[in-house]
Amino acid sequence: MHVSHLSLADFRSYARVEVPLDPGVTAFVGPNGQGKTNLVEAIGYLATLGSHRVASDAPLVRMGADRAIIRAAVVQGERQQLVELELNPGRANRARINRSSQVRPRDVLGIVRTVLFAPEDLALVKGDPGERRRFLDELITARSPRMAGVRSDYDRVLKQRNTLLKTAALARRHGGRQMDLSTLDVWDQHLARAGAELLAQRLDLIATLRPLADKAYEQLAPGGGPLGLEYRGSAGEAMAAASNREELYGVLLAALGEARKSEIERGVTLVGPHRDDLLLKLGQLPAKGYASHGESWSYALALRLASYELLRAEGNEPVLVLDDVFAELDARRRERLAELVAPGEQVLVTAAVDDDVPGVLVGARYAVSDGAVEKVDR
Ligand SMILES: Nc1ncnc2c1ncn2[C@@H]1O[C@H](COP(=O)(O)OP(=O)(O)OP(=O)(O)O)[C@@H](O)[C@H]1O
Ligand SMILES: [Mg+2]
Repeated sequence: MHVSHLSLADFRSYARVEVPLDPGVTAFVGPNGQGKTNLVEAIGYLATLGSHRVASDAPLVRMGADRAIIRAAVVQGERQQLVELELNPGRANRARINRSSQVRPRDVLGIVRTVLFAPEDLALVKGDPGERRRFLDELITARSPRMAGVRSDYDRVLKQRNTLLKTAALARRHGGRQMDLSTLDVWDQHLARAGAELLAQRLDLIATLRPLADKAYEQLAPGGGPLGLEYRGSAGEAMAAASNREELYGVLLAALGEARKSEIERGVTLVGPHRDDLLLKLGQLPAKGYASHGESWSYALALRLASYELLRAEGNEPVLVLDDVFAELDARRRERLAELVAPGEQVLVTAAVDDDVPGVLVGARYAVSDGAVEKVDR
């Protein structure tokens, strides 16, 4: 698929901007702080309902405005669709598809698909487990948009269960009335149900991603691998033996039972996909804490390239977004990455100077300066 038009109103630094786009490569070039990343961040938002730079929507709305609008025309094969999101920080966001009346924002998922490479990706390797969980869950949702519903069910159940545990913990500490814990049993089942579905998808994703990531790393840094992608579940060893959703449900439920005493002591849910991690190994060692800066970078790029291969193989080619990544790479990896992404249906690149865009990425060019996005004739 590709985006044929992007229009923004009160998004980040843009009061209004209209950007027609073609398939193939488009580079946005301009000095620092002019709004290049803001453009691709908007496209990424349509694909994930989140920003790769910030956790909340508030910074996405132009200072002084009270809501932002991202609108895109999307072409997939013969099909044209218009998606629109209205970001209302502090209130519910709104969405429309083909100008029809309101749909839920999550109904928009799956229309725009992106794989975004950015300097922030280094956190995939070096950062907290939450970064890797987000990576897995965004990819799961890109593969299967209905997982957005499962994720939000899980988050809701988790929140309610935590509230209950907190109350129990407080009652216990202050010697108050003992809580009726049978309510907790029901929440355990809800949590295990949604959790097992999420876990099953994550495990399947990792198994599919493993060979693709290995191949990508070999292309970027020949002889440097192999990579090891291992899921570290908070439900413990028993998870390894579970081969389907039903069994994972049983494992989670059992682990919640075992953890109950400490959960009530601490007032928080200690078992479930929200406590898990993806261990990234390079050779025999964990990448985090051991890999060099360059190796960590190659690792992060390999994970993104593998995501691209996976989505493409599963039938809907995503838009490739490369935000400022070439300047961070040495000449060899720059060339290799450029060659690997060049054939993509649509490739959007941002760079501070023309020279940072590798020669094989020929295509349209826009100059981005002070809120204006203007096509450069070449
Ligand atoms: N909510 C907002 N309201 C107004 N301006 C904003 C908002 N959010 C960000 N900006 C401005 O947008 C600019 C940053 O834009 P962006 O990150 O797209 O720059 P860039 O062209 O990618 O720069 P670089 O080359 O440094 O990556 C900053 O000047 C920032 O002040
Ligand atoms: Mg930028």
